[in-house]
Amino acid sequence: MSGPLVHAVGLRKSFGSARRPVPVLDGVDVTLAEGEVVALLGPNGAGKTTTVRILSTLLLPDGGTATVAGHDVVHDAARVREVISLTGQYAAVDEKQTGRENLAMMGRLAHLPRRAVRGRVDDLLDAFDLAAAADRRVVTYSGGMRRRLDLAAGLLARPRVMFLDEPTTGLDPRSRQTMWEVVRQVVADGTSLFLTTQYLEEADQLADRVALIDDGRVVAEGAPSELKRRVGDAAVELTFATPEDAAVVGSAGVGPEVLGLAAPSPAASGRPFASAASTPFASSAPTPARPVAAAVATLRVPTDGSVAHVRDVLDAVAATGVEPERWEVREPTLDDVFLTLTGHAARTRDRSADGGGSPGGESSDQSHAEEAAA
Ligand SMILES: Nc1ncnc2c1ncn2[C@@H]1O[C@H](COP(=O)(O)OP(=O)(O)OP(=O)(O)O)[C@@H](O)[C@H]1O
Ligand SMILES: [Mg+2]
Repeated sequence: MSGPLVHAVGLRKSFGSARRPVPVLDGVDVTLAEGEVVALLGPNGAGKTTTVRILSTLLLPDGGTATVAGHDVVHDAARVREVISLTGQYAAVDEKQTGRENLAMMGRLAHLPRRAVRGRVDDLLDAFDLAAAADRRVVTYSGGMRRRLDLAAGLLARPRVMFLDEPTTGLDPRSRQTMWEVVRQVVADGTSLFLTTQYLEEADQLADRVALIDDGRVVAEGAPSELKRRVGDAAVELTFATPEDAAVVGSAGVGPEVLGLAAPSPAASGRPFASAASTPFASSAPTPARPVAAAVATLRVPTDGSVAHVRDVLDAVAATGVEPERWEVREPTLDDVFLTLTGHAARTRDRSADGGGSPGGESSDQSHAEEAAA
């Protein structure tokens, strides 16, 4: 097979009724190469889960095409399922069974030979630090343990492509580290990984490439190092008494990329980033200091966090004669990424489609989903 392992072009999806469709994916283009780790990074409601559900054959797209290992996700769904695993956003394990029983059941569902499953289950329980709890019912597991069991289940069959939907949301920092270690091992063993996340740090830790999704479209993509180069490892965040003060400092060229932190303006809720669509971070022109919006009283200056640089920034601010009310050095957040790359803050969009139900509940696609589960 030539070409990317996962190749999606112009994926579209709306929920809601035929008369009042609520668009959720608006032309998603995304690829995953053999051996690669791609992170789809975006805020709540951006369309991450919807994209993963389409790529893993659980949901039919309204438009666009997608292939996995050369198989069409709509027309060759059964072939696609042979080469993938999916670990959804919510743990899908049976609470009444033990961890070991859950894995064995998944092995049977995947039609794996019984003997192979037994050895593999033991290996996975070990790898995920669940051996001691293996014969306890899952109802007694913590959230992190359930999540690890879920991930283990997705690895029984050594998939070529693994889809992981927000693998560490809700985990504590230590469980998150453990999860990252396991995921890295899986990738080292030859599985290509497509994950979604809301965490910049997670994308940075795991991904070779990050695709930023917002409002149902991939608005920028590139290597995490590029992302960091653009956004900065950290930033000096300065809050002023008035927007006018901030504007004085902002226009004084205190840093190379002084960015105002503003709530998204109503005017920005249309489609403001059409021109930024799929811009690789790398090939974007160096960002000039953005004009600071009038209503902004907080400025953000990317920094490497060194004493020397922070001092330079503060000296430059002092030279303007304007005192900030407070300042701090802060790690970048998803909002900072959005602000830097799209010029607006990440928007949490929860479009409740009329009669659409929860993100998990399908109506029109039920048969496809059921077929997938069989
Ligand atoms: N079956 C459905 N019926 C109606 N609306 C839906 C359905 N599935 C998803 N949506 C809506 O589509 C939008 C995108 O949902 P999706 O689950 O893809 O977002 P997400 O990026 O995964 O968000 P999160 O970070 O919260 O998991 C949301 O506004 C959601 O309410
Ligand atoms: Mg989701």
